[in-house]
Amino acid sequence: MTEIRHFTGLEAFEPATLRAMIERAALLKRAPETDANALAGKTLAMIFETPSTRTRISFDVAMNTLGGRSIALSPGELQLGRGESISDTARVLSRYVDAILLRTTKHDSLLQLVASAGVPIINGLTDRTHPCQLMADILTFEEHRGPITGQHIAWLGDGNNMAATWIQAAAQFEFSLRLACPAAYAPEAEILDWALARGADVAVGEDIGAAVTGADCVVTDTWISMSDDAGKQKIEDLKPFQVNEAVMAQAAEDAIFLHCLPAKRGLEVTEAVMEGAHSVVFDEAENRLHAQKAILLWCLGEAS
Ligand code: CP
Ligand code: NVA
Repeated sequence: MTEIRHFTGLEAFEPATLRAMIERAALLKRAPETDANALAGKTLAMIFETPSTRTRISFDVAMNTLGGRSIALSPGELQLGRGESISDTARVLSRYVDAILLRTTKHDSLLQLVASAGVPIINGLTDRTHPCQLMADILTFEEHRGPITGQHIAWLGDGNNMAATWIQAAAQFEFSLRLACPAAYAPEAEILDWALARGADVAVGEDIGAAVTGADCVVTDTWISMSDDAGKQKIEDLKPFQVNEAVMAQAAEDAIFLHCLPAKRGLEVTEAVMEGAHSVVFDEAENRLHAQKAILLWCLGEAS
């Protein structure tokens, strides 16, 4: 039996496979007609435990423009919400659809789905990682600044699921990543250790200047993630790590600013940076669509 092509995390891939997906995404962006009917007759089920604008709509449009279709569901619409197990849900859905996307606040739920499903599983964000977003982010960086290998990326703020996925990406795409996060909100140690063991050029500290000086790209994300029950104290603790014009002035003159969105203007990033010359956040949001087409084509066996 051929191996099922899950897209659950960047760490699971050979770098060349991720690179091929990025190239495919760039081609699809330039020439969307290339794969117009590649997924004809295919269905993607998407289960969202928490809200989504970009992931939900961009996957739906991606499936449609590749000739397939998608069904978006919340646990409350499924027997899952009344206690049917993830395992049984996975086995049933696998008889109807060709791939399943899950957004969950528990990474373990994603792993349970993988263990029981007979079709590819796509990580639509968990409390640990958000790999689809990172594929769009790499695409965005490269279309503005050229190949990311060897470049300097700075992360400011919470060491959350996005920070962890940037760490995985630094290992896979071989760029320098400097994270400035309060020690209490540092990224997950296991993911950092994995990257360092692979020789990744990643450093985590609290010094904003050290992270951002000369950076080719500055990235941040919301201070309170969907899986995070932190209160007001966390916001106070993170205030010094806001991306504002003074921070951007320390980066390279042609640095870009990335944010996966949704953004809380006035907290992790100022209005001036969001709307300023460095910001490419709406290209980044658009690139979810192109990157995910490449992911879907890979998962469904239509591309190498
Ligand atoms: N960036 C992102 O995943 O956005 P949504 O939560 O809107 O899907
Ligand atoms: N870190 C954020 C990303 C949202 C797309 C969260 O998990 O809520």
